[in-house]
Amino acid sequence: MFLNATEQTTWLPQQASTVASEVDSLFYFIYYWTIIFLAIVAFCVFYFSWKYRNRDNTKKLKSSSHNTILEVTWTFIPFVLVMIVFFWGAGTYMKMNVIPYGAMEINVTAQKWAWNFKYKEGFANPRDLVVPVNTPIKLVMQSQDVLHSFYVPEFRVKMDIIPNRYMMTWFEATKVGEYDLLCTEYCGASHSEMLGKVIVKSQEDYEDWVEKANVIDESIPLVEVGETAYKKHACNTCHSIDGSSMIGPSFKGIWNTMAEHVSTEDKLVDENYIRESILYPQKHIVKGYENGNMPSYKGLIKDREIEGVIEYIKSLK
Ligand code: CUA
Repeated sequence: MFLNATEQTTWLPQQASTVASEVDSLFYFIYYWTIIFLAIVAFCVFYFSWKYRNRDNTKKLKSSSHNTILEVTWTFIPFVLVMIVFFWGAGTYMKMNVIPYGAMEINVTAQKWAWNFKYKEGFANPRDLVVPVNTPIKLVMQSQDVLHSFYVPEFRVKMDIIPNRYMMTWFEATKVGEYDLLCTEYCGASHSEMLGKVIVKSQEDYEDWVEKANVIDESIPLVEVGETAYKKHACNTCHSIDGSSMIGPSFKGIWNTMAEHVSTEDKLVDENYIRESILYPQKHIVKGYENGNMPSYKGLIKDREIEGVIEYIKSLK
C-alpha cells in the first residue's frame, strides 16, 4: 500500500494512466531513501552530540584527517542510488514524451479562462475532454493568449502551453471515469477557475458520444442551449448574470440597452451586437472594462450556441 497504490492515497491521487504507476514508483523510491538518509543523519547528529559532549575530564583527541573505507562507502552508495534514479527517471521521461505512432489526435485550445477541444470528426467540445479508454491520445495544444498549463493529476500528465507554437503531450487512460483537468500556470485573474474534466469512456460509449456530439439537438430550447453554452464556454468566469461587475460586464439587463464604448460609437445590444462581441470581442470595448481581456470564440462556438446565448441574455431581465 505504501509502495505503489493504484487507488488514491494521502500522498498521491489514484493512477489512471499507463505512466502513472511508473512515475509513482520512482517518486516513492526517492521518497523512502530520503527518509532513510534523514534518519541516519539525524541519528548521527544527536548521538555524536551526546557522546562527544564537552565534559571537564574529557581528553581532547586530535580528529583523524582521513578514513578511506568510510569515504569510499559514503561516496559509492549515494552514487549507485543517484544513478538508479537517473536511468529510471530518464526512461520514464522518454516514455512520457515520445508520442506513440498512430495515437488519436485531439486539438486543444487554451485561453483566458477556458479549455476547448477540437476533434478530427469536425466538431469542438468546450471545457471537457472526452476520450476512449485504453487508447493513446495525442494532444496538439495551443494558447490564444498567455501561458497556460494542461494538468491531469490522475494521469501524471502536465505540459505547459506556450503562445505562438504548438505544444504536444500524450496519455493513455486506463480507467473509465471523470478526472479533474486543471490549468496549473498562473494566467490571470480567473486562473483558479480555468477548470474542466477529462471524461474517459469505454470504446462503445465514446463512439456513441461522438455521434451525438456531431449533431445539434434541435429539440433543446434555445435559451437552454444558451445557458449551457454560458457555463461550458466559461463565460461565467468573467460575466455575471446577477448584475455584479466581474472581469467583463454582467449579462443581466443589457438586452436592448445602449452599450457605451471606449473609443468607438455606442451601440444597441441586439442580436448582431452579441454575435460580434463573441466572435470579435476587441472591436468595441465597453467603458469600465478597458483591459479588453476577452478572447475570440471564432471557430470554438457553434452558431446555434450563439443563438442560444442571445436568447439567454434576452431572458436575463
Ligand atoms: Cu490558464 Cu492558469
